[in-house]
Amino acid sequence: MNFEKKNFFYRKKQSTIVDHTNGVVTSKSHSNIALIKYWGKQNNKIQIPLNSSISYSLGKVYTVTRLIYKEKKQRNFSIRILFSGKEKTSFLPKILEFFHRISLYCSYLRDLNFIIETYNTFPHSSGIASSASSMSALALCIMKIEKKLVSSLNLKEDFFFKKASFLSRLGSGSACRSIYPGLVVWGFHKSIKGSNNLYAIPYPYEVHSIFTKIENTILIIDDKPKKILSSKGHQLMKNHPYARDRLKCANKNMNRLISILKIGDFQEFGELIEHEALSLHAMIMTSRPYFLWMKPNTLNVIHSVWDFRKHSNKNIYFTLDAGANVHLLYPIQEKTFILKWIYSDLFSYCKKIIESFCL
Ligand code: DP6
Repeated sequence: MNFEKKNFFYRKKQSTIVDHTNGVVTSKSHSNIALIKYWGKQNNKIQIPLNSSISYSLGKVYTVTRLIYKEKKQRNFSIRILFSGKEKTSFLPKILEFFHRISLYCSYLRDLNFIIETYNTFPHSSGIASSASSMSALALCIMKIEKKLVSSLNLKEDFFFKKASFLSRLGSGSACRSIYPGLVVWGFHKSIKGSNNLYAIPYPYEVHSIFTKIENTILIIDDKPKKILSSKGHQLMKNHPYARDRLKCANKNMNRLISILKIGDFQEFGELIEHEALSLHAMIMTSRPYFLWMKPNTLNVIHSVWDFRKHSNKNIYFTLDAGANVHLLYPIQEKTFILKWIYSDLFSYCKKIIESFCL
């Protein structure tokens, strides 16, 4: 039996089964922004990353999911999805694939039918990781059902979150990091104790106080669904001419970040995250087929941030996700001054501004 199955599959012990086959569970999960980006998956494996990544979970941008379940007789999945109160059949294929994947570890899912009621506090498919918060919120709901079914699970909070992260990963890679607040690592890195490819862990080392209160302002440059989804982008790393160098660079950047987080050098931190963001976009621009996520206003924002930083000496840096939107990161101490500048100088480039923060 492989490691995953041995550790995470659901053991149905008749003696511990309690009657909870109808019910409702609710979970909330936050989006996250990666500092070192997960980009590319290992060949012939399910959701195993090429490199380790680290993210901050984000306040104010989250998904709330209510999962209503009921016992049924047939063994096929029966799922309805309501997104912000409206039936959303377009989400079904992804959710069904997720349920199929995880049913190996959660066999009870086949005995239940589901209504998933969910909403986000931000636009979905717009570069804010909606799959991360939605898949992790759903995985947390499923773990709550598992916890009700097997009373012995009550004792192990650690297992609950590990398996929730493990299941989330099977829905969307970056989702496994959304299970925890703060800095979260996913993917094996030799310098990070406990890091592994199957589930995420809270960052285990010392973090300077400057990195414990960071603002995250999200500039929505484009609020339409992305043309190239990140899952497609990951595939383009196969046979990518620069894949090996990207992998080396991501590993090196992780080592650098570990020491930056400890000593508290915000400038080094900022340069590192900007480099990571541009490396991610460089990968998509040089893949076959090539693609560009940035929009003219993404570049306008980036240049404005660089100019502002030069003239004001303020600690403000950007990072990007798989899309046109920009995340600005800066210490809370500089919030008033920087927010004023954002609204006066950057607002015209944006469809919307979301004031978030790193949890
Ligand atoms: C650029 O987690 O959305 O946001 O595993 O295929 O669902 P799938 O991809 P996804 O990829 C996110 C990539 C990224 C970087 C990151 O969050 O680390």
